[in-house]
Amino acid sequence: MSQSTGFTGNPSPIKKVRKAVLPAAGLGTRFLPATKAQPKEMLNVVDKPQIQYVVEECVASGIEHVIIVTGKGKNSIEDHFDYNPTLERFLEEKGRSDQAEMVRHISDMVQVSYTRQKEPLGLGHAVLVAKDLVGDEPFAVLLGDVLIPGENPATEQLIRVYEATGIGAIAVEEVPREKTHLYGIVAGDPAPQGQFGERLLRIRELVEKPKPAEAPSNLSITGRYVLPPAIFECLERTKPGAGGEIQLTDALKLLAKEQGLWAYIYEGISYDAGDKLGFLIATVELALQNKELGEPFRSYLKGRKF
Ligand code: UTP
Repeated sequence: MSQSTGFTGNPSPIKKVRKAVLPAAGLGTRFLPATKAQPKEMLNVVDKPQIQYVVEECVASGIEHVIIVTGKGKNSIEDHFDYNPTLERFLEEKGRSDQAEMVRHISDMVQVSYTRQKEPLGLGHAVLVAKDLVGDEPFAVLLGDVLIPGENPATEQLIRVYEATGIGAIAVEEVPREKTHLYGIVAGDPAPQGQFGERLLRIRELVEKPKPAEAPSNLSITGRYVLPPAIFECLERTKPGAGGEIQLTDALKLLAKEQGLWAYIYEGISYDAGDKLGFLIATVELALQNKELGEPFRSYLKGRKF
């Protein structure tokens, strides 16, 4: 189908998307002091750490191998996805086998590998660190602090686009015009492709955090990507940009120019739990959607005076 995408570059051969990279090596400075001695990705939202939601999205999207990029002080991420025989035995002995099974499932749901980013040199650099573990195949990237709940995982939506076209795809959503300076913004041309209809745009421009007056659109990059292996070579050519960091957006610009790149207006709602207000909003929204806690929490909120 790639001859009809309208892109002129040479796409990589289409392969199944089996792997996902989760960059989780940042310092989480917007969340201090909570993140002084614990990873931001392990902060609990309702009843589980943020990164577990993201790994569950990978599993629901058919990903077979999750690669988590960690750094100093991130060991609790590895512990969370490892077996804990003492805890499981304790729960079994107390007759709480449901809980024992739930704890075991966290480690069994998917194969997880780790690699370390020795210094937090930027999101693009964190993805590049996973190059050898990914190898010569397409892969997903999910930010460990962006939560997208729902039955129709955003990553799976992007995988469908990639596997149908052989062109990388990044999830985008509309944000208020006055907030463009907080996001990576894309401009694209509608490129209706069969089943994807008007959700698919051929990317023309990517700009990191433009002022509202200079933003080419109000479509922001959401934190979910499916990329061909050619992105690694683009990252290798990317010089440090804003904040002295190697920016993934800069490498995506090269990829868009050389091979083409889709923006996909995905179905769903994202919660950026990477700062304090976003985290509070994510907590309230996910608590309201929670099977056990949703109803009592809603009654609590209704009865509360503001
Ligand atoms: P963020 O910019 O949200 O994370 O990056 P941060 O740098 O930890 O946060 P602040 O700005 O200091 O508060 C998005 C994701 O990319 C990872 C982060 O761990 C986060 O999950 N990341 C970021 C890396 O893995 N390495 C980096 O060098 C930067």
